[in-house]
Amino acid sequence: MSQSQIIAVTAGKGGTGKSTTSANVATGLASLGHKTLLVELDFGLRCLDIILGIKDKIKHDIGEYLEGRIDIRSAWTKVDRVDNLSLVCATRNPFIDINPEKIMGVCEEMRDHFEYIIIDTAGIGSSVFSVIKAADLILMVTTPDAVCVRDGQMLSDFLYVKNCINQRLVINKVSPNFKGEDILYDLDVVMDTVGIPLIGVVPEDVNIKICGSKGLALPPSCGGYKAYSSIARRIEGQDVPLSIRID
Ligand SMILES: Nc1ncnc2c1ncn2[C@@H]1O[C@H](COP(=O)(O)OP(=O)(O)O)[C@@H](O)[C@H]1O
Ligand SMILES: [Mg+2]
Repeated sequence: MSQSQIIAVTAGKGGTGKSTTSANVATGLASLGHKTLLVELDFGLRCLDIILGIKDKIKHDIGEYLEGRIDIRSAWTKVDRVDNLSLVCATRNPFIDINPEKIMGVCEEMRDHFEYIIIDTAGIGSSVFSVIKAADLILMVTTPDAVCVRDGQMLSDFLYVKNCINQRLVINKVSPNFKGEDILYDLDVVMDTVGIPLIGVVPEDVNIKICGSKGLALPPSCGGYKAYSSIARRIEGQDVPLSIRID
């Protein structure tokens, strides 16, 4: 198997689209034929099983593995709607005592089984930080909203100081109502403020919301699908032109 890549998806603020981005980038990479694992690194909260339409299939979670009750292969569940994609769900226990080394050990162990390991880091704390630090690539998700941009900038600067330099920006929920000059200007400001290279712009797309809550795959014709599959291809190393026009 080619060298694996750990990708941490993070943001300075909740609700920006970390889980949505994690699920759709993972789906995009799996559709390109890469063996991909999505890890939900949250504590006591879950959503990726719903977004991926497998909530009734989940038998185990990362907490059970970390507590030594199951082996690593039982921790992940295959996603039905695309080949090559599996999910490790968040633990049900919000107070689980996980030390950072142990979480890191899990990620490193996953490298033997998957080409891409996408980690949805729900918030930032010491155990999550150790995973971000070990990631080969960090996707920083922001929306064009001023508060979100400022928080993204603060987290990005913090990570940079801590030597996490391979960061890429995803600007999510860009409204299709802004066209032409307006949007170019807005997105320029976002990029300059957060200060890391852009990997993709995702439109505000009602399909993302509807499909996410129903556990359905995004229709290939919608803007959200196109944006996420372009991001997946860029991660894979393809030269996909960055388009920041939202039509
Ligand atoms: N590009 C988008 N267009 C429309 N709705 C979106 C988009 N991205 C995320 N959402 C919606 O925003 C909400 C928060 O997204 P989520 O991925 O759960 O954020 P986070 O994991 O950062 O808290 C969800 O209801 C999701 O469906
Ligand atoms: Mg989330």
